[in-house]
Amino acid sequence: MLKKYISDRTPKNIYIILKINLVLIFFSKKPQHAIVHDAVEFSKQFDKSKLINAVLRNILRDQENLKLEKNLPDNFQKVLDKIFSSSKIREYLYQTFFTKPIDYQISLNNHKEAIYEKRVLPFKSKLLKNCFVQDIGNYEVIHTTHQFFQSKKILDVCSAPGGKSILLHSLGYEVDCIDKSNSQIIKFKQNLKRLGLNIKIQKKDFLKLTKKQNISSILLDAPCSALGTFRRNPDVASKINQSKLKRNQKIQIQMLDKAINILDENGIIVYIVCSFHPFETINVIDKIAQKHKNIRTLSLDSDKMIKRQNGYFINPLKFKDVGGSDIFFVSVLKKTK
Ligand SMILES: C[S@@+](CC[C@H](N)C(=O)[O-])C[C@H]1O[C@@H](n2cnc3c(N)ncnc32)[C@H](O)[C@@H]1O
Repeated sequence: MLKKYISDRTPKNIYIILKINLVLIFFSKKPQHAIVHDAVEFSKQFDKSKLINAVLRNILRDQENLKLEKNLPDNFQKVLDKIFSSSKIREYLYQTFFTKPIDYQISLNNHKEAIYEKRVLPFKSKLLKNCFVQDIGNYEVIHTTHQFFQSKKILDVCSAPGGKSILLHSLGYEVDCIDKSNSQIIKFKQNLKRLGLNIKIQKKDFLKLTKKQNISSILLDAPCSALGTFRRNPDVASKINQSKLKRNQKIQIQMLDKAINILDENGIIVYIVCSFHPFETINVIDKIAQKHKNIRTLSLDSDKMIKRQNGYFINPLKFKDVGGSDIFFVSVLKKTK
């Protein structure tokens, strides 16, 4: 957006001040005139306050006509268009590109004000007792896939900060949790303490795990680009590039290889990422299916998801009337003989 308003010779510090203030203009609740005023005052020390003032005011003048979707990175839009071939879904996504889905809270007990599945409530001013925060799409992927698990005992190998483990626990599963990140585990433990739950979480690197007992059900909520949260976090699109996506894919494949190796025969892996990029979704499952001839993908029964080859993407349009959702990909894998 800025490129239209400044020259290539604009000093880097001025460019950064402009970027910070555009974020404030488009994403904060601070009045726009106050943002411009503060930016101008701040930039006086660099002797460029007139430039800052002129650029920000020009952008404010043009803001009605600034079509944000035109500023999506090209590749990003191409990929989104490929996954969501329906023009209705694409229109909705582009219209809401910078509209954060509402925050939801999931009740551990049924609740009469729930807007979805008797469990999902809007998160208005305060977190209700016995509730935890989660995107509605996150709820949907677990809700649709949990009945495929082979037993009531699940190994959640990328579990922190615990959104899915807590949900599964509340559905009656015994969840064995591991994660390799200290800071994420701290958040997980805080959630457990607040909710008065007793779920075992251990700090371990899943890729180094040795099998000590039978494992028939694995949840792999793999690390990814988080591109599926692009409306909540618009910066994810500009942070990602091909080489980072390829690096993610390598780790995701290593994790699935590991999960398949430690899984019992007839066991189930639920693979989830909050991404819509083929590199992290359908291509990962494709490569795994080519490599492991004893793996097949299962069909899901959900009118809230769209099937693409070997997995399912959340259909964001299905959550339009309840405040929006992030986009998740899920594929359920069964290990045969
Ligand atoms: C998408 S997040 C999981 C979110 C979590 N399942 C939830 O619903 O709240 C991915 C997690 O994988 C963890 N992780 C990444 N590599 C790992 C590894 N090799 N072993 C275990 N955990 C790993 C990260 O620390 C991160 O917490």
